[in-house]
Amino acid sequence: MSRRNVLATAPRNLESGGRISSLAHFGAASLASALTLARTHVNPASSLSRRMSSGSRRATRHQQEKDDEVPQWIPGLGSDKPKPRTLGTSFFGYVPDAFVEKTPYLPSERTADSAKKQAELEKSAGQRSESASEISEQDATSQRDMDASSDEGVVTEEVIVPRRVMSSAAEPWNTDVLDGSAQNRLLIKGGRVVNDDMMQDADVYIEDGVIKQVGQNLHIPGGTKVVEAKGRLVMPGGIDTHTHMQLPFMGTFAVDDFYTGTRAALAGGTTMIMDFALPQRGESLVEAYHRWRAWADPKVCCDYALHVGVTWWSPKVAEEMQELTEDLGINSFKMFMAYKDTWQLGDGDLLESFKRCKELGALAQVHAENGDAIKEKSKKLLSMGITGPEGHEMSRPEEVEAEATNRACVLANQVGCPLYVVHVMSKSAADIVSAKRKQGHIVFGEPIAACLGTSGKHYWHQCWRHAAAHVMGPPLRPDPDTPRYLMDLLANGDLQATGTDNCTFTASQKALGKDDFTKIPNGVNGVEDRMSVIWEKGVVSGKMDPCRFVAVTSTNAAKIFNIYPKKGRIAVGSDADIVVWNPNATRIISAKTHHQAVDFNIFEGMEVHGIADYVICHGRVVVEEGELRVQSGMGKFVPTPAFCPHVYGRVQDRDRANAPQKVERAPYDGPVAQLNSQSHGPVAEHITAVQQENFYTRGPTRSGGVNLHDSSFHVSGRQKDDDILPRPSIKLVSPHSARSQLGSFW
Ligand code: URP
Ligand code: ZN
Ligand code: ZN
Repeated sequence: MSRRNVLATAPRNLESGGRISSLAHFGAASLASALTLARTHVNPASSLSRRMSSGSRRATRHQQEKDDEVPQWIPGLGSDKPKPRTLGTSFFGYVPDAFVEKTPYLPSERTADSAKKQAELEKSAGQRSESASEISEQDATSQRDMDASSDEGVVTEEVIVPRRVMSSAAEPWNTDVLDGSAQNRLLIKGGRVVNDDMMQDADVYIEDGVIKQVGQNLHIPGGTKVVEAKGRLVMPGGIDTHTHMQLPFMGTFAVDDFYTGTRAALAGGTTMIMDFALPQRGESLVEAYHRWRAWADPKVCCDYALHVGVTWWSPKVAEEMQELTEDLGINSFKMFMAYKDTWQLGDGDLLESFKRCKELGALAQVHAENGDAIKEKSKKLLSMGITGPEGHEMSRPEEVEAEATNRACVLANQVGCPLYVVHVMSKSAADIVSAKRKQGHIVFGEPIAACLGTSGKHYWHQCWRHAAAHVMGPPLRPDPDTPRYLMDLLANGDLQATGTDNCTFTASQKALGKDDFTKIPNGVNGVEDRMSVIWEKGVVSGKMDPCRFVAVTSTNAAKIFNIYPKKGRIAVGSDADIVVWNPNATRIISAKTHHQAVDFNIFEGMEVHGIADYVICHGRVVVEEGELRVQSGMGKFVPTPAFCPHVYGRVQDRDRANAPQKVERAPYDGPVAQLNSQSHGPVAEHITAVQQENFYTRGPTRSGGVNLHDSSFHVSGRQKDDDILPRPSIKLVSPHSARSQLGSFW
């Protein structure tokens, strides 16, 4: 029997006339206190009491304690000032054993040999006892690594028995197996198909990685493998619009690489990621693109696409953008308004890049934060002795994000370029995206799992590790209402697609900034848990229905990035990237059981409904009842074509309709001031006596009337009536008569 941490399943009533019944969250409340991480395949009701292990009860209690530990002070919202940071003894500083069976080395060190070694490790892990005390040599090394940089006094005991990740070896994917044989025929039977615009009870038949039939009473060839989906939702696999696997960043590499990252994505129901090729300042964009392809192609377990960063500007960059869009399958470019001195572009370069995107039919993306303000504020905070992770949020508060979001929208709109704001992290930034859309701007907003699922209060956590683990840019917001607010906007259409900004660093990597928050590598996890977090916070909360869930986790991304309906839809001809979703099963998110390489999970302890029972990637069952079967290199690069109709469809018509109109009028035939290029003095000095003469002797208009266009004002300060002595009785009184007002608009 396969193992997973599905705790309870309650088949949904899908029989009733095609209508979906209300979510019957089987005993959710009582279940919360009865969770265990060991998978069982028995009747939930009869097994509940048996599964109330002491470990699981402790897990729930610890979650409660964790919440209690987080200070409730929110900048600007409360009266209690935060206490100075102290090194804490928090249990939740990190999750012991979180490195068990995780990639124990950085991607840069990962050779073919090490991949093999890891595969062996994983294989043997499945055979090992379930005892948490059995730690392999690799695990022990990782544990030592963590311990070496741990805060004194961190409690390391943990009694939750971790789920053992069962996954196949990371061997290269052999494309020869796609030979049209029975193993490439698959029927998903008895489920409810959910697209962004409809639900239907239907079977789905797949051949050679493509959906061939959708409906009932299908004619299916013999020998076809059947996935039983009764009581399950059959949805397009998730598309994570924003990841950074093995990103070289802030002196280190993101620890989840294209193998562990995409494997984790699949485990959570995401069948495609969109990563970023980010050149260093001055580096060729095309070379960066090829570097990323070389990293990703042999490792990816699911399909992927790339956005490319425009991290500097020159005519060569403009040329390369053309090559990337026309020849290399790129239709989106990310510009940074933050990370001063590395990737940040000034307004002039931003405008150039937006103009170029528009010419090429590409989508401009922005990381919207004011990098200059952040630099300034960071210096000040550090000089005040605020060196901990709370300084990260303080140095880049909401308005710094909102200002840049507004500026990006204005600049893009001025050149008529569609804009996609990545990682919308705050209420005020989301409000701007929403308001601009209402004003008719073509702008899309992407909240990420992190800001939908948790908040920035963690930056004030007593444990440095815990606080630093949440550091990302823009930061999570301390306003605890933020996740709810962003989810509401996502549900009602003000925000459109979701990513994760998955960019993970271990505790020891985060510790590069132990004495200076500006040096903490920015990034958090999310690629594995995005679907569950959005289901829990969006659907279970009643904010969105399953169709909207599909829209924001998959279809809208496919549309915006021009890969729809190949991706993002269950329909004949679409790629068979499918998740068979169990809406009633629950699990508790934990770094101990997740598939990511990182040793921390920002959603630690969160109970979520919605589990990917089966995940089908290109027609292959890669998750079967929670068990992962992936191979590195299984995924493919997906080119994203330019001039997406869902993005640029409106642009041409709009440009034509809103084209500036010239006013036809008789040319001006009066005198023209001569500029004296020699003088740097006031403009007034440049006006010649002749001109002044003209000024006073302007004739009547063509119709012979008084020339009202003649002004009595002169830039020299001289007035037409200067020669007339002022009447002594007239006194000009400034509304604010104080001398300090002189020079103001008054
Ligand atoms: O914290 C983050 N977001 N790290 C990755 C780089 C970026 O800005 O997306
Ligand atoms: Zn960013
Ligand atoms: Zn990012």
